[in-house]
Amino acid sequence: MKIQKTKNPDNLTSFEQKHLPWIIIPEFVKKGEEFEITVKVGKANHPMTDEHYIRCVRIYINGEVFKCCNLKLPNKSEAKFNVFLKKDSLITARAECNLHGAWESKIKVVLYRGNGG
Ligand SMILES: [Fe+2]
Repeated sequence: MKIQKTKNPDNLTSFEQKHLPWIIIPEFVKKGEEFEITVKVGKANHPMTDEHYIRCVRIYINGEVFKCCNLKLPNKSEAKFNVFLKKDSLITARAECNLHGAWESKIKVVLYRGNGG
């Protein structure tokens, strides 16, 4: 499935804001310690109706598929994933809309190395 592109990432249209996954992670992520990734689709909630909905949200860690979460109507257009990382990693979230294709966001997670850890 082709990934949709935003026209101007600094000035998203309301259509784009509904589709672009919004990845939320804790402020501090430690090596090997489980944490939760929340993916909301998107900052402006995408509709979840019989006619128009987000099918699934996928997470990739360093380009490898980690998990796929199928969304069920009439739940919210968001998914949560429990993850642990061994190194600094690139997290990609991909959301698939039944009408408007696949949308991706990426976030670089740099492990917390405070307190001598
Ligand atoms: Fe859509």
